[in-house]
Amino acid sequence: MKKASAFIAAAAMVLFCGTAGTAPAAESTTKNPYQGNQKIVKEGRKIFDENCKVCHGEGGKGDICPNLTLKKKKFGDTDADLFMTVSKGRPGGMPNWDARLGTEKIWKVITYIRSIEK
Ligand code: HEC
Repeated sequence: MKKASAFIAAAAMVLFCGTAGTAPAAESTTKNPYQGNQKIVKEGRKIFDENCKVCHGEGGKGDICPNLTLKKKKFGDTDADLFMTVSKGRPGGMPNWDARLGTEKIWKVITYIRSIEK
């Protein structure tokens, strides 16, 4: 619970203080601080292979679970939507990862997902 309220506090800070805040970039839950960073894409791929591939398939192409290479996502495709999906989970069987991965690794895996979208 403590972690959840820290997330809410960080989100509120972004809302009320705009981008001028001093919080580290990785603390944001609405905008990917690593977007387009090729080094992070590699790290994200590792996180994906270890945690997500079992359901979402090789390269995220979908297996028993949704194909993540499609730009159009069922639960929304903004950075904030993807963050919510991965951190909090979704009702049809998508687990929540906030406690297991934390904000930084969630953004890294999202950076990888962005790199495989077409
Ligand atoms: C136990 C299997 C399982 C694992 C492991 C898993 N997912 Fe999922 N994921 C699902 C299912 C099932 C859905 C569809 C949920 C629904 O439709 O309600 C989903 C949905 C998603 C979506 C939303 C797709 C859309 O169209 O909106 C994203 C993004 C996603 N997963 C990313 C990940 C990431 C990143 C990981 C690893 C950190 C991961 N998933 C691990 C089962 C899994």
